[in-house]
Amino acid sequence: MLQLSPSILTADFSRLGEEIQSVTPYVDWFHLDVMDGHYVSNLTFGRSVVEAVRESCELPLHVHLMVSEPHAFIDEFAAAGATRISFHPEATADPSAVIAAIRAAGCGVGLAVRPGSLLDFVAKHLYELQVVLMMTVEPGFGGQAFLEHVVPKIGEARKLLQDEGAVADLEVDGGIKLSTLDRTVAAGANIVVAGSAIFDGVDAPAAARALRARLDELGGGQ
Ligand code: DX5
Ligand code: ZN
Repeated sequence: MLQLSPSILTADFSRLGEEIQSVTPYVDWFHLDVMDGHYVSNLTFGRSVVEAVRESCELPLHVHLMVSEPHAFIDEFAAAGATRISFHPEATADPSAVIAAIRAAGCGVGLAVRPGSLLDFVAKHLYELQVVLMMTVEPGFGGQAFLEHVVPKIGEARKLLQDEGAVADLEVDGGIKLSTLDRTVAAGANIVVAGSAIFDGVDAPAAARALRARLDELGGGQ
C-alpha cells in the first residue's frame, strides 16, 4: 500500500493539534523535521513538539533528524514517541553507532539521502534499515521545488532493495505535490512526504484527501 506522511514543518503551530487531527483520516504517518541550525541553517523544534504530536494522534511518527551529531538526540526523541528515526550519515563520524543507538532505543532505523549523496552507505547497511529516506530537495526548508534529477536515483534505490530482497520502505521527501507524485511513485517510492502541499494554510484536509486519492489510484486501491 502506498503511504502518505505529512511534514508538519509548514503547519500552523498556533493550532498544531487541530492541523494534525484535520488530516489524520487521510494519512499514514506524520513526518517531524528536527533541524538544529547547524547541520542545516534552519532551526525548527525539539522533543516537546514530538511529544505534542504524539499526544495529538495515534499514527506512527517518523522523526527526520537534520542535526549534527545525531547520536546525542536518539534517546530523547525515542522517549518523546518516535516510531522511526532517520538521520544523515554525513552528520556524524560514526553512523554505524547511530544506527545501533536507534535500534537499541526501540525505534525503526532510517538513513536520509541528500540529493547529491550516493547510495553506497545505504547499500552497506541495507539490512539494518526500516526506511531509506530519499530527499528530493536540499534539507533545511519546506516549500522548495522538487529536484527532478533525483528521480533516477529513486529508481536505483528501488532496484537495490529488490535485488537484495531488503524490506526497508523507500520514502521520498521534498517537493511532493499532485504534479510530482506520479513519477515519484513510478520510480519506486512507497511512502511520500508532503509538507507545503498539505499545510499551506488553504485547506489541509482537502489537500491530504486529494493526495490520498491519487495514491490509491496509483496503488490500485490497495
Ligand atoms: C526538508 C524536509 C522535508 C520538507 C518537506 O528539509 O526534510 O520534510 O519539510 O516539505 P515540502 O513537502 O514542502 O517540500
Ligand atoms: Zn523531512
